[in-house]
Amino acid sequence: MPYRTKRTFLVTGAAGGIGGACVDHLLHDGVNVCAADLRPLDHTDAHEDALDNLLLEQVDVSKEASCLAVVEATIKRFGRLDGLIHMAGVHCTEPWEEMTAESFDRILSINVAGTFLIARAAALGMATTGGGSIVLASSGSTNMSRQDGIGNSSPAFVASKSAIIGLVGALARSFAPLHVRVNAVSPGATDTAMSAHFDEDTMHQLSERTLVGRIGAASEIARVASFLVSNESSYVDGQVLAVNGGDIHGS
Ligand SMILES: NC(=O)c1ccc[n+]([C@@H]2O[C@H](COP(=O)([O-])OP(=O)(O)OC[C@H]3O[C@@H](n4cnc5c(N)ncnc54)[C@H](O)[C@@H]3O)[C@@H](O)[C@H]2O)c1
Repeated sequence: MPYRTKRTFLVTGAAGGIGGACVDHLLHDGVNVCAADLRPLDHTDAHEDALDNLLLEQVDVSKEASCLAVVEATIKRFGRLDGLIHMAGVHCTEPWEEMTAESFDRILSINVAGTFLIARAAALGMATTGGGSIVLASSGSTNMSRQDGIGNSSPAFVASKSAIIGLVGALARSFAPLHVRVNAVSPGATDTAMSAHFDEDTMHQLSERTLVGRIGAASEIARVASFLVSNESSYVDGQVLAVNGGDIHGS
């Protein structure tokens, strides 16, 4: 199929664990993908058969102009935009006693304002080609930290990921006239760079909390995000789906 008639998706946080797994999953499905991240991206061997379908871009989601530019670049290259999987984000373990207003603002600026800016840019882009679907990232820590703090997420991170739950509803309502759906995944602890700082004891506790007895793989979150961004989920809108191995506290 010529690449300009194929469905096209933008993935942010593509240099990271879950975003990278989303890119792999989508390319394997044969669609066009713009993989974007603050960190410069490079093709991997796994993408060699799909280079015609892959665009690599740098984006800073906390900057409006950068968000508009990455959407424009995607539509210029592939002629359309059908979906956004927004996995770019920053974690923060700064203890509440030490947290400054500046560091709190930084987390909110990337994780919350950045989510709004890239979602709005993508929705406006998708509206030009008939609509589409957006998948955001919340976090099981919105429940976990409230209960026992396992995972060591700072109040700023928890606040930022709780805000995503509100944004999903607000944006789903706002973008409905554009025929753009908005949902989120809420991953439990997942094996990526973001969870690499957890010590063995924390990892053990996080695994024990789940019904499946282990933390998640990035590909397991990516499969659900890919479902939500696709037409397979056409009657799902405004929802936050926990993907956490049955974490009995985080569900
Ligand atoms: N890994 C987990 O245990 C876990 C659990 C719950 C929620 N999440 C959420 O899932 C999403 C993906 O997590 P991950 O584990 O793949 O993280 P990761 O750290 O592996 O990847 C995050 C990516 O975001 C990029 N990024 C940071 N700031 C950016 C900016 N301003 N503009 C563009 N890109 C930027 C980073 O460069 C990085 O490549 C995040 O939103 C995270 O909060 C992860």
